[in-house]
Amino acid sequence: MELQREQWKSQLGFVFAAVGSAVGLGNIWRFSYMAYSHGGGAFLIPYIIALLSAGIPLLILEFALGHERMGSAPLAFAKINKNWEWLGWWAVIFVMFGIVLYYSVIIAWCLNFFFLSFYLGWGDDPNAFFFNEFLAVSKSPFEIGHIRTPILVSLSIVWLINWGIVFRGVRRGIEYINKIFMPLLFFLTAVLVLWSISLEGSMIGLRAYLEPDFSKLSDPTVWIDAYSQIFFTLSLGFGIMIAYASYLPGKANITKNAIVIVFINSGYSLFAGIAVFSVLGFMATSQGKPISEVVSQSIGLAFVAYPKAVSLIPGGNLFGAIFFLCLVVAGLSSSISIVEAFISATVDKFGFRRKPLITLVTILGFLGSTIFTTQAGLLWLDIADHFITHYGLIVVGIAECLLVGWLFNIKVLRKHVNSISSIRLGYWWDITIKYFVPFVLGVILIGELYAEIKQPYGGYSWTSLILIGWNWILLTVIAAVVFARRPWRTRYYEMEGRSQKTGGIL
Ligand code: PHE
Repeated sequence: MELQREQWKSQLGFVFAAVGSAVGLGNIWRFSYMAYSHGGGAFLIPYIIALLSAGIPLLILEFALGHERMGSAPLAFAKINKNWEWLGWWAVIFVMFGIVLYYSVIIAWCLNFFFLSFYLGWGDDPNAFFFNEFLAVSKSPFEIGHIRTPILVSLSIVWLINWGIVFRGVRRGIEYINKIFMPLLFFLTAVLVLWSISLEGSMIGLRAYLEPDFSKLSDPTVWIDAYSQIFFTLSLGFGIMIAYASYLPGKANITKNAIVIVFINSGYSLFAGIAVFSVLGFMATSQGKPISEVVSQSIGLAFVAYPKAVSLIPGGNLFGAIFFLCLVVAGLSSSISIVEAFISATVDKFGFRRKPLITLVTILGFLGSTIFTTQAGLLWLDIADHFITHYGLIVVGIAECLLVGWLFNIKVLRKHVNSISSIRLGYWWDITIKYFVPFVLGVILIGELYAEIKQPYGGYSWTSLILIGWNWILLTVIAAVVFARRPWRTRYYEMEGRSQKTGGIL
């Protein structure tokens, strides 16, 4: 049994890959909309507090876990306590057989819109085009209708690219492509930002985006959303950062890398928001409407508001193409990280040969995604996303903290990190992981569950929420338990952690 773990070629390559996973669709539309609706510039206060108090400590924890235990999420968890292995599996299973299935479909839409941009193919009414023609959304999640062929075609391209990159391995695939994708993404975004602030009315948009409204800070949902955004945007609680850190060499500057990654990721969000809001300001001005009427959230922003604006901008075809290309690139570098997290976990446990496994998993991923290309796709996507990102991510986040903080000697992990990093972690980190993060996540979880029971999410019927949302959670948990109960086929599990190996730290 081969026990040689693949390694990043350089730490910079690792930083690029982790940034690739973190910077995704969420940075472009989720962040901008949140900032706008939660007090503009004032939102940066809870956002930064969430970043410092939970985001950075947890990112360091995931890196430390993957690095010290030398394994993907299930392996790292199992090497602390065998009973918790299933939670590691759950993380990588709900991302692979949940999130990435619809995340890849959104990337596919972006690819379609990239091509549509060239001839403004959405016509005069982008709203009607997107919902009635492009998605042809049905009335209920159970009216599946038919598969939308243009989406299916781009979806196969997306999966082919995912396959091609992950197939080539950590170093020649993921690291290599992110070193191209990330600079490309930053360059294209810079072009968009410069172009958009030169448009008439951009300042109105920027004012709406950044002008602080401090009164919003007394609203608890603003704080909850700030914390959720930080977890989502840093790809925490998905088992991804654990897997990526397991490919680091023995000496790796964990704390510094984590801070650099966080800085780039949040900086990118802020920066991309400038392009988003300048364009909305431009649209408001050219249509003589107040800005609040042109702003919409999530998919409405990218696939309705933006196309509308693109049609109005002189030379907008190119602008639109660049915008959608940015989304495609940002999305792909995140989706490959999900596939890798699952592959890495499965190889660690069962010792499968990587390449055939990747081919099989990609085919399953593609087939699973097709449900989201049907006419009920948008509705399924909405429900699945709500349940998986809300509950999955939070539960795994809490579990990680409890596992490391209470069932393991967290000092061992801190000493390990300090022995190889340039920025030292103090005792505050132990406290944050043991008490603060689980507490905050616990409060969010209770708040979410309460809202869930009070009113069916998104106005869907209880039947559809139970059959799709809750069922998805249940099936992935069952799959996780089944995976966890299988015997270990590799010797990874018996190997000691890095701090034990180097000796003297315990
Ligand atoms: N961090 C990504 C974003 O902001 C989201 C993501 C989710 C990435 C799940 C990987 C896995 O869009």
